Amino acid sequence: MRELITLQVGQCGNQIACKFWELALREHAAQSKRLQADDSLSSFFEVGDGKSSVTSGLGLHGGQHMPLKARAIVVDMEEGVISEMLKGKLGGLFEQQQMLSDVSGSGNNWAQGHHVYGPQYHQKLLQRLRRAAEACDSLQGFFLLHSLGGGTGSGLGTYLLSMLQDEFPGILRFACSVFPSDDDDVVTSPYNALLALQQLLEHADCVLPLENQALQDIATRLEAGKGGSAGRPFDGMNSLAAQLLLHLTAPMRFEGPLNVDLNEITTNLVPFPRRHFLLSGMAPFQPPSARPSHPGIMPSFDQMFGAALSRDNQLVRVQPKQGMYLACALLARGNVSVGDLNRGISRLLPTLQVAPWNPEPFKLGICATPPAGLPMSLLSLANNSCVGATFERMHERFAKLYRRRVFLHHYVQYMPAEDIQAASHAVTELIHDYSTLPRCYLASDLPQPKPLGLSFL
Ligand code: GTP
Ligand code: MG
Repeated sequence: MRELITLQVGQCGNQIACKFWELALREHAAQSKRLQADDSLSSFFEVGDGKSSVTSGLGLHGGQHMPLKARAIVVDMEEGVISEMLKGKLGGLFEQQQMLSDVSGSGNNWAQGHHVYGPQYHQKLLQRLRRAAEACDSLQGFFLLHSLGGGTGSGLGTYLLSMLQDEFPGILRFACSVFPSDDDDVVTSPYNALLALQQLLEHADCVLPLENQALQDIATRLEAGKGGSAGRPFDGMNSLAAQLLLHLTAPMRFEGPLNVDLNEITTNLVPFPRRHFLLSGMAPFQPPSARPSHPGIMPSFDQMFGAALSRDNQLVRVQPKQGMYLACALLARGNVSVGDLNRGISRLLPTLQVAPWNPEPFKLGICATPPAGLPMSLLSLANNSCVGATFERMHERFAKLYRRRVFLHHYVQYMPAEDIQAASHAVTELIHDYSTLPRCYLASDLPQPKPLGLSFL
């Protein structure tokens, strides 16, 4: 299987990644009854030659003589999160040579992460990237996990993307980016998010925005009546983000004829290079406090289908039915057939607005291996014009501060003021791009679409 290298940058990127690695290992162990070095592990893990084994820390069977290493670069300019991770049950998954940290962090300042730490650590980052790439037989892409609200994930994370573009041209750059809430605790997050967004626009091939407020809303709904999930503040939200990543990457971690990978998703869902921000929705989510092996309440296929495309289960707070679908991938796991998916689409299609030039907006994929504890799940990834509303909110929050030049001095000590103006301009153009798509067509206005099939390129 083709390999992906995960770049986990900053506190948020590392915390979500940790949850993802844990769930992925548990899922592989559950599939084959015991963890073993088969092909399905190789896309995300290297079999190392050290002595430590992460599997005993997680209480998994197998793997005692098979120390696994995550195919990852672990970066945080603050020591705390990484050292906590190394002390925890996943510590054995990483080696010193794939990590990079400094002491005090980027102080919630994009410019410090991007313009100070980026150039300072350029060579060290390059060494780690090259080493990880050399360990792959057929590198499929880089997968960045980070937040936009702070300084490191946002600034250094996007610096890494531009490095990748120079050093590994032609290799996919896929980013999973956590957008700050409107009432985010980080007061400078409107600047950081806007500056990072411009970089994502320029240097990523495809971006999956996860809005913290959406994660929070879903977590609260799932835990309603259960007294809330215990643990640290972001635990519940990170568990949902990790479930989504687990589903997204399942076709790259398990063999199957109808699997689709990130390259195919990007090729099919990004018809215009700059409109590469995908709306994601998933069903069912397991409540964060549920044990993964514990069977959850399973909706019917039709309920699951409706939920995955409903406003409530989107990871960005928008109404997909109010936007135009340029393209949409429906990726199922478990006991689902192409016929089931086509049935769901035909029922929903008349209520959706689709791009007039795309008579077959839906792309289907099925990974036969179900998620732990469930017979099936469905992930919808849509290139839908409604994401423009998110960027508009982000720009408004930025403009409120920028108009009065609040906090600006923290940035201009590291970067030219014109670059901030240019980022604002680029994001305004992006918003304009999304709002000026041709007249939206109701699918029912269009000629009947051809029968749908597995239409990935
Ligand atoms: P510096 O601390 O400035 O060096 O950068 P950083 O990349 O470590 O910052 P961090 O990732 O903490 O970014 C802050 C933003 O991320 C805020 O919007 C937080 O709400 C959000 N955030 C931080 N940790 C988590 C997390 O574990 N999960 C989620 N979902 N969001 C987080
Ligand atoms: Mg930090």
